[in-house]
Amino acid sequence: MTAFVRNQWYVAAYSQEVGDDLLGRTILGEPVVLYRLRDGSVTVLADRCVHRRYPLSLSHRNGDQIVCGYHGFTYEPTGACAYVPAQTRIPRTARVPSYPVVERDSLVWVWIGEPERADPAAIPRAPWLDRPGWAVVRGMEPLAARYGLLVDNLLDLSHETYLHGGYIGTPEVAETPITTEVDEDGAVVHVRRRMKDVECPPFYAKSTGIAGRIDRWQDIEYHAPCLYLLHSRIAPTGVEPASDGDDSAACHAEIVYAITPETPTSTLDFWMVARDFAVDDDEVSRYLAESNRTVVLQDVVALNVLEKVIAAEPEGYQELSINIDTGGLAARRLLRKLAGQ
Ligand code: FES
Ligand SMILES: [Fe+2]
Repeated sequence: MTAFVRNQWYVAAYSQEVGDDLLGRTILGEPVVLYRLRDGSVTVLADRCVHRRYPLSLSHRNGDQIVCGYHGFTYEPTGACAYVPAQTRIPRTARVPSYPVVERDSLVWVWIGEPERADPAAIPRAPWLDRPGWAVVRGMEPLAARYGLLVDNLLDLSHETYLHGGYIGTPEVAETPITTEVDEDGAVVHVRRRMKDVECPPFYAKSTGIAGRIDRWQDIEYHAPCLYLLHSRIAPTGVEPASDGDDSAACHAEIVYAITPETPTSTLDFWMVARDFAVDDDEVSRYLAESNRTVVLQDVVALNVLEKVIAAEPEGYQELSINIDTGGLAARRLLRKLAGQ
């Protein structure tokens, strides 16, 4: 099993999901509650009352405080307890842990590990999610499978041909070899697949309006453990970026996933598609949101099956890996290293 990697930033939610309501999520097995304070900042606390463990996410707010829904222990946004029922002395240990949190690029990042090691500068960026000139569609699907299976899935896109035919898959995706590079210090895996003069899948034909054959680039940048970026370039075949770097004749989609382990066998699968074409076209937004969700659910169904297969298999079963797995194997190795294994 891919071990959990602690002392890392993880996406707990989209910014737009965190408001006045108390939002409960589980990250690396730790239940947390997220909410937005009156000053607009986000607070993240352990989602377990120190008294009898009642989830704070099922409780209610009193201003910026949370009042436990069971017996009324009342917590400040720092996690310190400000009130207990029927006595004036508040026990010194009446406090729930609070988590370092940073909102960036429309994502709410939470540090899971030792708080004093949290460095916001280490958070990988996905600037297109929050940038003028780009349109974004997004969603989150719960996955009943370990996060390592989603990492494998996203680092080997040859599966698009077989699992996502009719959406993003065409024969050439599986046929075109990849190149892989690993940045050990930055914990980043790069996988590139550059396809020339190939069929345009419906996902891009309908959204870009490009008719005919295309050059299609898939440049993956996986920042272990949580952030996955797929830089997708789609252009009529033969249209290259200009020598000064201008690439405005091509369409670009930035496909972003945040892979947040929930439990050892479940994962929060945050998916986003940012694009620099047809940005004001709501019809294109609707189409991409619906198609991408369908594609994500095709993966979810397959990975949920694989989780069951793994649970039932005998100890020591050996997979067979080939060239297409180079990126996935590099990611697994990085994750083991980060987990200290
Ligand atoms: S469980 Fe929260 S006050 Fe008792
Ligand atoms: Fe997929």
